[in-house]
Amino acid sequence: MVDNVAGLMGELEGGDFYLLSGVEQGMRFSEWVDRGKLPEFAGLDPEDIDYRLERCLKRELIEKKTIQYEGYRLTFEGYDALALHTLSERDTIDAVGAPLGVGKESDVYEVRSYKPMALKYHREGITNFREVRRGRSYTSDREHVSDVYTARKAAEREYETLRSLYPEVSVPRPVDHNRHAIVMEKMEGVELSRAELQDGAVTVLDAILRELAAAHDEGWVHADMSEYNVFVRPDGVTLFDWPQAVETGHENAGELLERDVSNAVGYFRRKHPDETPEVDERAVAEAISEGAFASVRELS
Ligand SMILES: Nc1ncnc2c1ncn2[C@@H]1O[C@H](COP(=O)(O)OP(=O)(O)OP(=O)(O)O)[C@@H](O)[C@H]1O
Ligand SMILES: [Mg+2]
Repeated sequence: MVDNVAGLMGELEGGDFYLLSGVEQGMRFSEWVDRGKLPEFAGLDPEDIDYRLERCLKRELIEKKTIQYEGYRLTFEGYDALALHTLSERDTIDAVGAPLGVGKESDVYEVRSYKPMALKYHREGITNFREVRRGRSYTSDREHVSDVYTARKAAEREYETLRSLYPEVSVPRPVDHNRHAIVMEKMEGVELSRAELQDGAVTVLDAILRELAAAHDEGWVHADMSEYNVFVRPDGVTLFDWPQAVETGHENAGELLERDVSNAVGYFRRKHPDETPEVDERAVAEAISEGAFASVRELS
């Protein structure tokens, strides 16, 4: 678990951020950044480096390992501090509040801005990136890919996808992005997995499938549809968690769309068997990709 660094921000000095971003720069070239190279990467003199290293180590924003040389790298806490610093300098964020969701792949906090928003820190790369990493040889430092790098890639991808979907598709409005962090509108409603739907179940299923259709129209397949990635409101649904989305031109887009449909329909069939008609999931996926989906009732 990664600690919330928001409470540390007030103690950190300008020079500490120079040091952290020096370590960040060095990590583009090697997993552990040689202490000897830090004055240049950080733009600080060697005595200042000693002082800042100690401060940042004590706060667990960096970690140290002695290999052939004395090396340092950022922890996720250090990376969070850098992102938070940038987002607050840009006035995107005024303060960090309570956790909204803490998981394996991300930590999400409520943040204060001109109105409440959500800050999502990505914690690791999506599966594809992990596969890229596995296929590589890590003996060569040049090919080294750090966790913070894969997390940044996942955040960039999610942010770009949200930007391309909003507002045609009901997704959280993307507000800003830095490194592995995304700031977006805070969603209203309750997670589908915890929503009590009673009578209106099919209406909600139709609303989800129509959002999948709207996303398809914009050129995207979500590819991780589940009851945990949908918020339900009295007047509609919001689909979130998009880092793994693929473009409709992707070679597996058809299969992934069918899986999304089958996850959504399957959930309603399990939870609301009496109300949810049996449908051919392939026919639903086809209707979605042809821009002809209206309701599961028409396809049962
Ligand atoms: N914009 C938002 N507004 C309000 N809550 C949000 C927002 N985005 C995410 N959350 C909350 O944070 C949780 C995790 O977000 P998300 O599904 O995007 O990440 P994840 O990568 O799936 O993380 P996990 O590993 O926890 O599943 C969500 O289930 C939701 O409760
Ligand atoms: Mg999720």
